[in-house]
Amino acid sequence: MTAMNDLKLTTATACGSSTAHESAAAQVAGAATYVDDIAEVRGTLHAAPILSPIAHGRLRGVDATAALALPGVRGVVLAADIPGDPILGAFAHDEPIFAIDTVQHVGQVIGLVVAETVMQARRAARKVVLDIEALPAVMTVHEALAAGSFVLPPVRVQRGDAAGALARARHSLQGKFEVGGQEHFYLEGQIAYVLPQEQGQWLIHSSTQHPGEIQHWVAHALGREQHHVRVECRRMGGGFGGKETQSGHLAVWATLAAVKFGCAVKMRLDRDDDFMITGKRHPFAYDYTVGFDDDGLITGLQLTLLANCGFSADLSGPVADRAVFHSDNAYFLGDVDITSYRLRTNTQSHTAFRGFGGPQGVIAIETILGDVARTLGLDPLDVRLRNLYGITDRNVTHYQMPVEDNILQPLIGTLAESANYRQRRADIARWNAQSPVLKRGLALTPVKFGISFTATLFNQAGALVHVYTDGSVMVNHGGTEMGQGLHTKVAQIVADELGVSFARVLVTASDTARVPNASATAASSGTDLNGRAAQFAARRVRDNLAAFVAGLDGCGAGAVSFAGGQITSPACTRSFDEVVKAAYANRIQLWSDGFYRTPKIHYDKTTLTGRPFYYFAYGAACTEVAIDKLTGESRVLAVDILHDVGHSINPAIDIGQIEGGFVQGMGWLTTEELVWDAKGRLATHAPSTYKIPTAGDVPAHFNVALWPEANREDNVFGSKAVGEPPFMLAISVWEAIRDAVASARSGAVQMDAPATAERVLGAIGSS
Ligand code: MTE
Ligand code: MOS
Repeated sequence: MTAMNDLKLTTATACGSSTAHESAAAQVAGAATYVDDIAEVRGTLHAAPILSPIAHGRLRGVDATAALALPGVRGVVLAADIPGDPILGAFAHDEPIFAIDTVQHVGQVIGLVVAETVMQARRAARKVVLDIEALPAVMTVHEALAAGSFVLPPVRVQRGDAAGALARARHSLQGKFEVGGQEHFYLEGQIAYVLPQEQGQWLIHSSTQHPGEIQHWVAHALGREQHHVRVECRRMGGGFGGKETQSGHLAVWATLAAVKFGCAVKMRLDRDDDFMITGKRHPFAYDYTVGFDDDGLITGLQLTLLANCGFSADLSGPVADRAVFHSDNAYFLGDVDITSYRLRTNTQSHTAFRGFGGPQGVIAIETILGDVARTLGLDPLDVRLRNLYGITDRNVTHYQMPVEDNILQPLIGTLAESANYRQRRADIARWNAQSPVLKRGLALTPVKFGISFTATLFNQAGALVHVYTDGSVMVNHGGTEMGQGLHTKVAQIVADELGVSFARVLVTASDTARVPNASATAASSGTDLNGRAAQFAARRVRDNLAAFVAGLDGCGAGAVSFAGGQITSPACTRSFDEVVKAAYANRIQLWSDGFYRTPKIHYDKTTLTGRPFYYFAYGAACTEVAIDKLTGESRVLAVDILHDVGHSINPAIDIGQIEGGFVQGMGWLTTEELVWDAKGRLATHAPSTYKIPTAGDVPAHFNVALWPEANREDNVFGSKAVGEPPFMLAISVWEAIRDAVASARSGAVQMDAPATAERVLGAIGSS
């Protein structure tokens, strides 16, 4: 275990070493530029949104007279001002840019007030008088299901004969539970700054995971060609999926204001407005019937997933698909019948959030297995182990993909051993027996997460590598930096390919004018895709240099090697810089593009069968918690994680992703509660009422180790994606709390997530 924990601080190559994040020093010094730090051009105006106070209604009129009378106010922008299509250029084409004749959630944007300062615009937006006739609203997934209110049709995945298997099952259990959504709470709120350029062209600075989509949406709204719109993003102050599509709205709104007033416009949301307007993680409700034998082996499962999509489709289709794909987590489900409903409600349009529906699938099966274990009086870890995917049989998922890279058994075994799971279980049982108020709980849960965009076409990437005449290197690729360290890893990869030091390589802002048609930086595949594309681009430059040196020295190009800032042929060793200078003088191309597409993947969108994922990333967490029977409070005491990132390109960054993902998942399942009141108003729209974990919530014992093996598929440096999978390790917190609740009462544990103090108390109290 110590070897796995070794951060390998010094290696001969850039890949594999814990290089500091490329922006770390600038960020702590306040010298890293975010969109709001860009110097404003003279005459920049500011836009603020006019929000619907009604969940569902007919919009009869907008009276801006009082707002227009305020100082600094220049005017309003409404649907009628949109030169192109008033419906957003999103995939489902179901979302108006500004509410047109109906409002569909509290916080829907009806239009903008544009003023000389941001505070003038915000104050004036609140003075706009709206004439809305309220209509009945659909607030819950159950109401939506009963009313047949869907954003997309249901999807059903079946294998074998679940109904027959349940009829024959030795034991069976039925259950229902709900899991709440989650606000992204990126530290940098949504923002766009739009600058008019010559001849009807636009430059947009956006805090976005998907510059390419912003370009498409803006061009669509303006009714112009995509080459008129250029989008740039140097970095985000966090995205977490919340800037995959949601950032596009701001860019479209700000551009419409810029068109109307013919000047630069900035739009930055106030935190409360950000909460009210933007979509969150999809809340889910579940209904299941599970059949099992005396050992807890699942023999049949019927599972219904109700996804609360909000008022429009946004990314709900692929999010709900991923929930279905992850309803097995690490376990073989033989006779299984899963139905996924994508329900339309009068709330914000829910969107991508770390794990992209995967967590909502994984928590279902983990909760079911916990319930099965408690019903039989077995150790939940034994029930989990009993149901794991096999190596030679029981190894095909419910969507017909063979699990070829399964390391679950040894990974879980190693963690159970190092975390001393068996001993601690016995100790905790003894401790609980003599503790009347505080109860401890322990759980060890695995994760198996599919890597690739489920929409196969997104699994492509491009990059440019430029070597300048002094030997310095600039890389540009289609991915975006949101704190996850993508640019750092890409620079490490390029440095090794050219045999130069990390310090010689600079990664520049994402820019639609440099690398076109780039996918969102999402699905954890940023490094897999862009890292490879950049590697291929660097390889072409390297090949050019190798051929040049081979010509000088009369050897084969294959005999020329690149390392340590030097280029070596059998005849001679020269510095990289010297060769570059000579190559330039000999008119050798010193820059190149690179392109990568993920191999092997395909799947049928209607039946959800095939190989949607190139490979799986694995991990497991063992978590101990304590709860207070009298107050319902809980605390995470100790966490041990063993996670698979393949051969780590940057162990420090990967461990940071694992820790951050885990703590963010812990927030989702414990304190982060979204409460909509009966009128559809989000009551928790600020940090005063919505509680993300803070430093004080990080467990005192928090040990993260990396699994030592390389990715078995051919992936850059033998690495695996890390951005999202660790989020689901936090389901061990949920299961540990339910374990503690079980020792505080008799009978099954009935609780919804997040496990707030109220919910824990309720779960205990109902015994
Ligand atoms: N880490 C930080 N610090 N900030 C973020 O916004 N987003 C997560 C994850 N880790 C995020 C993060 C999400 S949702 C994804 S999909 C991946 O990073 C995206 O980056 P990658 O594909 O380069 O891993
Ligand atoms: Mo991440 S939810 O795929 O942006």
